[in-house]
Amino acid sequence: MENVAQDAPAPHTAGLPGGKNVAVELDDGIAWVRLNRPEKRNAMSVGLAEEMNQIFDALEIDDRCGVIVLTGVGTAFSAGMDLKDFFRATDGLSDVERQRAYRSTRAWQWRTLMNYPKPTIAMVNGWCFGGAFTPLICCDLAIADQDAVFGLSEINWGIIPAGVVSKAISTVMGDRQALYYVMTGEQFNGTKAVELGLVNEAVPADRLEQRTTQLARNLLGKNPTVLRQARAAYKYVREMNWEQAAEYLTAKADQTHFIDPEKGRAKGLQQFLDEKSFRPGLGNYARE
Ligand code: ACO
Repeated sequence: MENVAQDAPAPHTAGLPGGKNVAVELDDGIAWVRLNRPEKRNAMSVGLAEEMNQIFDALEIDDRCGVIVLTGVGTAFSAGMDLKDFFRATDGLSDVERQRAYRSTRAWQWRTLMNYPKPTIAMVNGWCFGGAFTPLICCDLAIADQDAVFGLSEINWGIIPAGVVSKAISTVMGDRQALYYVMTGEQFNGTKAVELGLVNEAVPADRLEQRTTQLARNLLGKNPTVLRQARAAYKYVREMNWEQAAEYLTAKADQTHFIDPEKGRAKGLQQFLDEKSFRPGLGNYARE
């Protein structure tokens, strides 16, 4: 596969892959991963997907990264799939060739993101259309500019919300709301996106980075092993019945206790029950 990263040395990649279509900045535990095609409103091309896959692979094992924030450079989070590079350019390909082009996008947008071992926050800073809903929804949490503009615009230009967009929206939006936007292609803002369950919060543009950083710092304060296990457990039990979920969660809790190098459970119990030095209802146990 072509190594897009080597085409243009990166201005902001913190020694990581990428640099042409994606910029990465590492800041005190937070990896800011920015779609970086502002002149194309961060439309997602095949090249961008290949860089994203390399970056997520690298950040997974990079100790400088505890939390990922996914966002865009300029006025867009992302204007969706690149209609030229992704659609028109793949129109003439055989089905097998087309599947190869899709593979890299499917990898980063949902297969990797939805089960990523580190917490992820989408920070929606502007336009967010169509295919951009997939990585947005597959991040664990999302904060939006209250004036960001969202839309399932597929119907407006004659396609259905494909890739895996229709599936993704069905995991966070109710059927009435999802179908309304699938069928009308109407735009909505960040405040409405909260109401629809697409994002956690919407804030004014001048508070977006500050609030996102605050949330990321909160996550960095948690026991990372327990946080990873808690996220995974939640995502897997959604597909299970109650009996299976109870069995699985018991085993997952035991596994977490077993693999946690920090032995958080024992520390938490000791600090609350014996030392009476903290209250779990009100904050974290002392990790040092
Ligand atoms: N694919 C390819 N190119 C794009 C895309 C896209 N999704 N979005 C924007 N661009 C390009 C434009 O063609 C233009 O290129 P040019 O400078 O070479 O002419 C450049 O980005 C700037 O776009 P403008 O439309 O001029 O920017 P503006 O700020 O006025 O509007 C907006 C922004 C509303 C996002 C508009 O660009 C737009 O409607 N984009 C398409 C949104 C969309 O429907 N995406 C597809 C969703 S469906 C899917 O993802 C499968």
